[in-house]
Amino acid sequence: MTKLWVDPSRCQGHARCYALAPETFSIDEEGYAFVIEGREQSYNEDNVRKAIKNCPERAIKLDETE
Ligand code: F3S
Repeated sequence: MTKLWVDPSRCQGHARCYALAPETFSIDEEGYAFVIEGREQSYNEDNVRKAIKNCPERAIKLDETE
């Protein structure tokens, strides 16, 4: 189950996620962010929370229901 992802319909390429949590997020060739494979459920929580707060598009999604 995926816990953490970037909503591609919202991401506008601000790259703050990458700046704050480069171990978790990467940027594709068009400048949009994605969660590095294998990091969807294993990430630095402090950095990811900072990234979520700092994404102006609120494109970073975290499902904490499980
Ligand atoms: Fe996209 Fe937000 Fe990162 S707009 S590049 S998910 S800071």
